[in-house]
Amino acid sequence: MSTTIAIVGAGRLGRVLGRSLHRADWKIGAVVARSDSSARSAVRTIGAGFPLAGISSRILHANIVLIATPDDAISKVAAKLARISTDEWRGKVVLHTSGALDDSVLVPLARRGAFTGAIHPLQTFSERSSPPLEGIVFASQGDPRAQRAARRIVRAVGGVPVALRRDAKPAYHAAGTLASPFVLAVVECAMRILMDCNFSGRRAKMALLPLVRQTLSNFERFGAKESWTGPISRGDFATVARHRAALAKWPAEVQDAYAALARLSARLLAANPEETLLHLDRVFANTVDANE
Ligand SMILES: NC(=O)c1ccc[n+]([C@@H]2O[C@H](COP(=O)([O-])OP(=O)(O)OC[C@H]3O[C@@H](n4cnc5c(N)ncnc54)[C@H](OP(=O)(O)O)[C@@H]3O)[C@@H](O)[C@H]2O)c1
Repeated sequence: MSTTIAIVGAGRLGRVLGRSLHRADWKIGAVVARSDSSARSAVRTIGAGFPLAGISSRILHANIVLIATPDDAISKVAAKLARISTDEWRGKVVLHTSGALDDSVLVPLARRGAFTGAIHPLQTFSERSSPPLEGIVFASQGDPRAQRAARRIVRAVGGVPVALRRDAKPAYHAAGTLASPFVLAVVECAMRILMDCNFSGRRAKMALLPLVRQTLSNFERFGAKESWTGPISRGDFATVARHRAALAKWPAEVQDAYAALARLSARLLAANPEETLLHLDRVFANTVDANE
C-alpha cells in the first residue's frame, strides 16, 4: 500500500525530502508553508502535492506528517495540528526534522493517538545547494512505530537510518554543528588571515581548498591521529608562540578559537595530551618566546 506524506514547513529540507520521496513513488499530500506563494513554489520544486498556506484539516489526508519548520516553531505547529482534530490523529505518524529536539516536542499529537518521532539527515541544505540524499545518515528517534516509518522514508530516499536514544539528540546535533558550520567558520577565518597577507580572495580559496580536502581525505583513509601534522604535532611550540603573536591584532574570537583548537588538538590527537597541554599553557600564558 502506498503511503501519503504531508510536509508542514516546505523550506530547504522539506522540499528536498518531498522531491526525493515523490521520485521514489510516494504520494505527496499537503505541502504547507506560511505563505501561499511559498507553498506553491514548494509544490513546483517537489513535483507533487497540493499547496496550503497555514495549518488546516486537509493535512489529515496523509498518513504520515513531516514537520520541517524551524526548530523553534515545532511545538507551536504541533499544538495547532493537534487542534484540527480530536480523533483523526489516532494511528497516524508525525515526525519532525530537528536534529537537537526529541519527540517530546510533539506531545500534543501523541496525546491524540499519533505515533511521534524525529528524523534528521546529517547533511547541510542551503538556498543554493541541495545535495543528494543517497548515502546520508539520518538519525531517527521516537515511538517504535514512528521509527519504523522513519526507516521507510530514509530507505526510500537512499539514506542510512541510525536510531538514537532520546537523551542523545542534543549531543548528536552538537557533533554535526562542529563538523559543518564550525568547520566553515574556521575555514573562513583562515581565508581572512590569508587575505590580510595580501592574498586575493580567489588565491586564498585556491590555497586553502586543496589543504582542507587533503586533510579530510587523509582522515577518511588513515584516521585522525595518523593524519595529524602541524607545529603542535611536532612539538614546535615556539612556532605556536609565533602564531599567537601574529594573531594578537585580530579580534578576541579569532585568538580564543586558535587557542581552544590548539588545546582540542592536544587533547584528542597528541600521544601525550597532558604534557602537550602544559606546553600550550605556557605558550598562551605568553611565557614562551616566539624567537626561542
Ligand atoms: N537546512 C538544513 O541544512 C537542515 C539539515 C537537517 C535538518 N534540518 C532541519 O529541518 C528543519 C527546517 O529547516 P530548513 O533549513 O529547511 O528551514 P527553512 O528553509 O527556513 O524552511 C522552514 C519552512 O517552515 C515554514 N515555517 C516557518 N515558520 C513556520 C510556522 N511558524 N508555522 C508553519 N510553517 C512555518 C516556512 O514557511 P515559508 O516558506 O512560508 O517561510 C518554510 O517553508 C529544522 O528543524 C532544521 O533543524 C535542516
